[in-house]
Amino acid sequence: MADKEMKGIILAGGAGTRLYPLTKVTSKQLLPVYNKPMIQYPLETLIRAGIKDILIIVAPDHAGDFLKCLGSGREYGCHFTYEIQDKPEGIAQAFMIGQDFIDHDNVTLILGDNLYEDDFSEAIKTFETGGRIFAKRVSDPQRFGVVEFDENNRAISIEEKPQNPKSEFSVTGLYIYDSTVIDKVKALAFSDRGELEITDVNNLYLAENKLDVAFVEGRWFDTGTFESMHEAISFARDRHLAKEARSL
Ligand code: TTP
Repeated sequence: MADKEMKGIILAGGAGTRLYPLTKVTSKQLLPVYNKPMIQYPLETLIRAGIKDILIIVAPDHAGDFLKCLGSGREYGCHFTYEIQDKPEGIAQAFMIGQDFIDHDNVTLILGDNLYEDDFSEAIKTFETGGRIFAKRVSDPQRFGVVEFDENNRAISIEEKPQNPKSEFSVTGLYIYDSTVIDKVKALAFSDRGELEITDVNNLYLAENKLDVAFVEGRWFDTGTFESMHEAISFARDRHLAKEARSL
């Protein structure tokens, strides 16, 4: 059987209420992070990892602006497809919206407001089946999905925004799955907050013993709040200036 291709999805819908009023007239993922629109960072993460076929999922309000911003993908040597998420009904809904796009291939989903220093080429190249997610130690795990580990450092559960987190390891916004993710999401019920939860997807892979929890080594920013956005901008600036200095 031929190797499966790795497709990419950038999820860039959502309401962006925590960045209000900046998000009154545009989408969060089009806001500047130093010298680029926010979405360009997760896009570059996928491209750096060798992914060329990329689905960009956006909210209806500013869909045309994403097309204007990123275009067909030709400029990047890629092919971009666009889909609308009518309502922010959860991260896992991306796999319902993207089911024809994924087909029988593997897929890497990245959130449109996540900025990573790491290079995921190896993690993607070595992926075969199941699911692979990336955890990072954070000071405020209550804001995220939190991984619980047993004494042998094996992941045993993932809890969404727990009041009493069982570890400091948060699940970050890049997820690699095989195409069984589509049927897994179809079997999910909406959570109490009205979303198809990515944490439920991860727990299904975990129950099958097919979830690999890797770790983010470099810096990682979820730029959904003013504070985290400010930190991401400083990081992007430092990195940009260091790169310019190296090329002198
Ligand atoms: P969040 O930051 O959790 O949600 P949000 O962007 O709607 O912001 P806020 O909580 O301030 O209202 O979402 C994380 C990322 O996932 C972000 O890039 C938006 C995206 N997302 C969607 O595209 N659709 C969805 O249904 C959800 C829940 C998130």
